[in-house]
Amino acid sequence: MDAICELAKKYNIAVVEDACQSTGGKFGDKDLGTIGDAGAYSYNYFKVLSAGEGGALVTENRKIYERALIYHDSSAVAFFGTQLDGIKEPLFGGTEFRISDITGAILREQLKKLPLIIEDLHKNKFAVIEKLNDKLTVAPSHDAQGDCATTLAFRFETEEETRSFAANCKEKGLEVTIPADTGKHVYTNWTQIMEKRGALHPAMDPFRMKENQGLQMDYTMDMCPKTLDYLARTAYIWVSPDWTEENRNDIAEIINNAV
Ligand SMILES: Cc1ncc(COP(=O)(O)O)c(C=O)c1O
Repeated sequence: MDAICELAKKYNIAVVEDACQSTGGKFGDKDLGTIGDAGAYSYNYFKVLSAGEGGALVTENRKIYERALIYHDSSAVAFFGTQLDGIKEPLFGGTEFRISDITGAILREQLKKLPLIIEDLHKNKFAVIEKLNDKLTVAPSHDAQGDCATTLAFRFETEEETRSFAANCKEKGLEVTIPADTGKHVYTNWTQIMEKRGALHPAMDPFRMKENQGLQMDYTMDMCPKTLDYLARTAYIWVSPDWTEENRNDIAEIINNAV
C-alpha cells in the first residue's frame, strides 16, 4: 500500500481500497480500508461480519463523502432525512443503494462482536499452524499480526502438488479452495474488463470515451503471469471463530496427512 499510495500521489490519482474481505484487519497501525482515499467493506455471507448483504464506504475526504452519499441515495435521503443538510457538492443522478433498517440493526450488533471475532479467528488459525509439520509452507503475509485470519493458506512448489493436497483434504471432508478456481476473483474471468465494456451505452463507457483513447488498454490473458502462478500454487481453508480444540486437532491432522 505504501508503494501504491506514493505512486497515486505522484500522478494525483485517488486510491480506493477494496477491504471487503478484511473488516477488522490492520496493516501496521492502520485499519485496512483507511489507508487510501476511501475504503469499501462488504457484509455479505462470506465476509468477516455479515448482515445478510450490504456494505459501507469510509473516507476522511469530505468531497468523496458527499459524492458517495449522493450517489448511493440520490433521492430519498434528501426527502426523508437531514443527511443532505450542509452538503456542498451539486446533486447528480445516482442510484438507490440505501441500506435497510434491519440490515443496519444487524450490523450494529455485529460490529460490537468484531474484536472478539478477530481474536477467535487468530487464536484458531495460529493454533492449527502450531500443529503443522514442516512439509507445509504457510503463504506469506505482509502483516501476520494484522491479518483477519479468516483463511489459512498454504503455498506449494507446483500446481500439481497444490491440487493433490486439495484433493487429499477433500477426501477426508476438509474443503480446500485454490484461488485460481474462484471465477471472477481472477482477472482472466473479468469479461467486462477483458472485452472492454465498461457500460452498455458507448457514451457512458470509459473504454470508448474520446478523452480516454490513447491510454494503455492492451489487456491480455497472460499479462500478470506471477499472479496466475501464485493463485495456482496456493490452497486455503476457511477458519471459523467457533472451532474447538477437537476441531483444531482434526483439521491439523487432515492437513498434515494431505501433503
Ligand atoms: C475482495 C472483494 N471485493 C468486493 C466483493 C464484493 O462484495 P459484495 O458482494 O458485497 O458487493 C467481494 C465479494 O466476494 C470481495 O471478495
